[in-house]
Amino acid sequence: MSKNGSISSSVIKRLPRYYRFLGELKKQGVDRISSRELSQQMKLTASQIRQDLNCFGGFGQQGYGYHVDELREEIGKILGVDRQFGTILIGAGNLGNAIATHINFDTRGCKLIGIFDNNEQLIGRQVGNLTVRHTDEIPAFCNEHHPIAAVLCIPKQATQQIADTLVLMGIKAFWNFSHYGLSIGYDDIIVENVHLGDSLMTLSYRLNVLTSEKEMESDEYEQ
Ligand code: NAI
Repeated sequence: MSKNGSISSSVIKRLPRYYRFLGELKKQGVDRISSRELSQQMKLTASQIRQDLNCFGGFGQQGYGYHVDELREEIGKILGVDRQFGTILIGAGNLGNAIATHINFDTRGCKLIGIFDNNEQLIGRQVGNLTVRHTDEIPAFCNEHHPIAAVLCIPKQATQQIADTLVLMGIKAFWNFSHYGLSIGYDDIIVENVHLGDSLMTLSYRLNVLTSEKEMESDEYEQ
């Protein structure tokens, strides 16, 4: 495991994509795939794929390519998707509800075991198979169930205080949607900030490039 701890973050960011893609191939009944085919389908270069997978010891065989199921399983192990890290979600509003009901935590290494909010009107509501509890219950819940990760779907201004409390309760990792740049003064706390808007801006950038090229082409044509 320590070997995987030094892998660059750009490689780690690509691993879920490999995992997802290999899962699609498996569903289609594909048993093996050459690195060239894999690269064409994933729109990565074959050498990029080889380099990425070599970080973990390499899984391909010369002249055979990759065994889809084996490779997916190995990547899954590296990602830890076979684990069941106890996870709690704070903020049972629109986003919290959507995440709790539409993200399959169980197949991604985490198990959602509790949902909390400080709005009395939401307490007792059912979200998926969990019942929303009051944030006052967090300490007792953590003492009993020892969750290790927390999903934050609360407003910006509430984030730091909640995160500080959760760290004291043993939380080691935050999946933070709150648009607040969480700063935690401990080296062993993991923060994964998510900004869906960034993905939209990437789309906007690509559209901007595409339409600018088209505009330039039509300008040249008209001249
Ligand atoms: P919402 O208002 O529907 O839900 C927020 C929930 O947090 C409410 O149920 C509220 O009672 C609860 N809450 C507030 N303070 C709390 C505290 N101290 N402890 C526990 N619960 C508390 O808002 P929505 O739409 O669900 O958004 C939640 C947050 O996520 C916002 O900050 C929003 O800006 C952000 N967001 C981030 C996205 C991203 O891509 N990162 C996308 C969409 C929203």
